[in-house]
Amino acid sequence: MKITIGSDHGAVELKDAVKKVLAEFDVEINDVGTFGNAAVDYPDIAEKVCAEVVSGNSERGIVLCGTGIGISIAANKIKGIRCALCNDVFSAKMSREHNNANVLAMGGRVLGFGPAGEIVRAWLTTDFSGDERHNRRIAKIFALENN
Ligand code: RB5
Repeated sequence: MKITIGSDHGAVELKDAVKKVLAEFDVEINDVGTFGNAAVDYPDIAEKVCAEVVSGNSERGIVLCGTGIGISIAANKIKGIRCALCNDVFSAKMSREHNNANVLAMGGRVLGFGPAGEIVRAWLTTDFSGDERHNRRIAKIFALENN
């Protein structure tokens, strides 16, 4: 699986920690930055990561900012993206099982590296249930995109 990851300046250290967790899996990592402490705008990072997911170049994306809020809001403006802001393992699992989330968001100023790692592990190892009711609801999300 190929995963594109990106963060603003509020989560550069978390991005490095998440990349170490991703290395536990059979995952190709595409890091689109940012790489230093200079301030960048999280919508630009969301756009870069999500472009890779929407194009099919990456199967999934991970977006990070200080809280995870701004970058998840931005990601969810992009057609085809179902971005889940997860601060706990249960939400991470449900975002895959029920919502088939293709992008995970977390906050570098919210989560410690340990809990974030567990969230990433859960998110990577949980499959979409494929249940009819969840497919129906996701289809309604697609319909909202086209309204
Ligand atoms: C940047 O200072 C901060 O606003 C950003 O990382 C994020 O927390 C926004 O939601």
